Amino acid sequence: MQPSVLPSSFSLLATGMEATLAQSARMVATHVAASLPDADTLLASLPPGALEGSPDRYTRHLVHADPFERFSVMVLVWRPGQFSPVHGHRTWCAYRVLRGTLAERHYRWNPQDRTATQVNAVTREAGDTFSVPAGLQHIHALGNASDAVAVSLHIYGVDQDRIATGVNLLVDTIVS
Ligand SMILES: [Fe+2]
Repeated sequence: MQPSVLPSSFSLLATGMEATLAQSARMVATHVAASLPDADTLLASLPPGALEGSPDRYTRHLVHADPFERFSVMVLVWRPGQFSPVHGHRTWCAYRVLRGTLAERHYRWNPQDRTATQVNAVTREAGDTFSVPAGLQHIHALGNASDAVAVSLHIYGVDQDRIATGVNLLVDTIVS
């Protein structure tokens, strides 16, 4: 379906929406950081052997499903060298590093050719907490560039039944 009104008519809305969503994400991250159980409690709740990870890919463990289906909480275990695909998000999300160090690569979306280009890379340490809104303004790849297992907790704004299809928005990248 094509929009019926010129895009420029909505530029003010888009600008204000950007700031509003960014503020909302900061509030989510602050709330998550202040409200989660401590890392030891969370790690102890995982199945036996889970913290070893898998040689095949990073592993995911559901640790909480909101009864009102507003969000789901997963713990991810990353062996050295394991990374997510480059993705935006179909929903708001938040994450907190529980153990070890994660590497996060950020990408900029180009709406004209519908590709993403890496713009920077940062290191996330245990205790770091972040949240981003849905959409393609925030595209990243997350993974473990260290030589030890890393563990992170992720909160997605979908019911557990939609985690597989309703979270990651995979994008093409330009390698520069
Ligand atoms: Fe993500």
